[in-house]
Amino acid sequence: MIEPVLRVLERVDLQRLEALERQQAKPWSRDQLAAALEDEAACVLGAAIEGELIGHAVVARLPFEAELQAMLVTPGMRRHGLGGRLLQEVIEQGRRWGSERLLLEVRAGNAVAIGLYRKAGFGEDGRRRGYYPPHPGATDATREDAILMSRPL
Ligand SMILES: CC(C)(COP(=O)(O)OP(=O)(O)OC[C@H]1O[C@@H](n2cnc3c(N)ncnc32)[C@H](O)[C@@H]1OP(=O)(O)O)[C@@H](O)C(=O)NCCC(=O)NCCS
Repeated sequence: MIEPVLRVLERVDLQRLEALERQQAKPWSRDQLAAALEDEAACVLGAAIEGELIGHAVVARLPFEAELQAMLVTPGMRRHGLGGRLLQEVIEQGRRWGSERLLLEVRAGNAVAIGLYRKAGFGEDGRRRGYYPPHPGATDATREDAILMSRPL
């Protein structure tokens, strides 16, 4: 596999970022993505192969902490370490900001992402019961818990 290049995305990347994000069941809207790209207190990282965007991560700067707000690797490129590389870059960004901790919340049923976060040193801080609406199209219509996780920076 050609090694993906990681870089900070900018406003000109909006269309590509939107196309990538639409691969999610509940994608961020174009306006949300544009706001993240323009927000000086946020950083949108992208991974690309020959110009094609195949992964991204959004991290926001809070007063004392940083928060991972979104992360996606395109389905055909998963399990090659790219999620781990993006997460490492998010950690580095939090350190550059001087943040004390990196926070995130994840669906309790997202075992893959939870595995990725645990491997990167995140621990569970708590749960928000019924925080997420059911997945669109899911047969089980119950709401899903959010797991709150963090790691020191
Ligand atoms: C979560 C996601 C970003 C991981 O990306 P990835 O490039 O496949 O991740 P990596 O290859 O770096 O995997 C790193 C670790 O994650 C865990 N992991 C990844 N895929 C897994 C799978 N299918 N089953 C179990 N664990 C898995 C493992 O701990 C893995 O380490 P290992 O390969 O040494 O076992 C990707 O699956 C994705 O985009 N999922 C949909 C969006 C999503 O859930 N985002 C997170 C929202 S909070």
